[in-house]
Amino acid sequence: MNFRFNDSSITVAIVGCGGFIGCHLLDAILTRTQWRVFGVDLDFYRIQHRLNDERCEFMVADLADKNVVERIAKYPVVVNLAAICTPSRYMAEAPEVIRSNYDHPAALADACAKSGSWLIHFSTSEIYGRTSADSGLLVEDETELTFGPVTASRWSYATAKLLTERYIAGLQNLKWTVVRPFNFVGPYMDYMPGVDGNGIPRVLANFSSALVRGEPLKLVNGGVAKRSFTSVFDAIDFLFALFDVGQMGLVTDDVAKVENSPFSQAFNVGNPDNEITIAELAWKMRQIFTEIKGVSMDSIPEPEVVSGVEYYGEGYDDSMRRLPSVDKAERILNFKAQTPLDVVLRESLTWFVGHYGS
Ligand code: UGA
Repeated sequence: MNFRFNDSSITVAIVGCGGFIGCHLLDAILTRTQWRVFGVDLDFYRIQHRLNDERCEFMVADLADKNVVERIAKYPVVVNLAAICTPSRYMAEAPEVIRSNYDHPAALADACAKSGSWLIHFSTSEIYGRTSADSGLLVEDETELTFGPVTASRWSYATAKLLTERYIAGLQNLKWTVVRPFNFVGPYMDYMPGVDGNGIPRVLANFSSALVRGEPLKLVNGGVAKRSFTSVFDAIDFLFALFDVGQMGLVTDDVAKVENSPFSQAFNVGNPDNEITIAELAWKMRQIFTEIKGVSMDSIPEPEVVSGVEYYGEGYDDSMRRLPSVDKAERILNFKAQTPLDVVLRESLTWFVGHYGS
């Protein structure tokens, strides 16, 4: 089957279309292709400007509804971005987190296996588990996976995501590609607590909120954990590198794993050049904030060290390092994330300050 970008008869289903990645994917599909979009989500505030687009159809729903799952699987390409992916919820709401990250995507995978759709499923870099400070590159088909004990409920999310990957990989007749995001950041990431969401968002949104409010940035367990932050726009380019395979007519019904085919493969999507400790991230973001606002560093409170368990609750645990191997995406899709950390942080914080005011 061909998925030519100028073929207006093609509809892509995006589950989680109103979310952080979904809103950027929607914009990119509508500007770079002639495709139509069937978008499913519970919240559409990020995509208000697209709600009346004649190439789009939206549905307020989630994957808990079997009929919705069947409907989504009628489209030839299904991108599943829907998930509860905020660490502060993994402890207190573990059953809900597991339903959202295993039961629902597994049902969608079953439906896609039946209908023949190409399922592009978003997993997580967190499936690499409780990595240590001296863990090296995380390699898709090689790295051993270790999680904390069941009492460390932080791993509810990662283990549910991992089970979904195993389920997808084990399904006969499913055409699939799995994406493992490494800390995507950019405009519209998460929320500002107390304004358009509650609890603790992921680190970039949390630091941005604290800066806007003049509050100290919180360094969990000293901020020694490392992450490799990746521009959401690089992530969208990765998806277009995948779509290009469809554009070239390489989407076949043969789902056997073949070398150099993106089907039946999991890909890390990350930027190893952007690795940084959280304490260094705090320093950089304070610096960028002074430049955006034209204020001095003295006016910004010093970061505060907090304990992970006190901050997030009993059962919190952490990955100390997440450094992606990106060879597979480069080899198979000729894709490499390009955006340097300073650029993506400045872009994200500028957007946050403009959007939420100060
Ligand atoms: C989360 C999700 O669990 C992953 O599924 C997802 O793939 C990943 O985000 C992502 O965005 O890709 P994590 O990297 O731990 O995983 O998310 P954050 O909450 O952003 O935490 C990053 C690090 O910053 C952790 O060490 C955390 O303890 C620390 N942190 C977070 C702070 O020091 N201060 C804060 O205010 C928030």
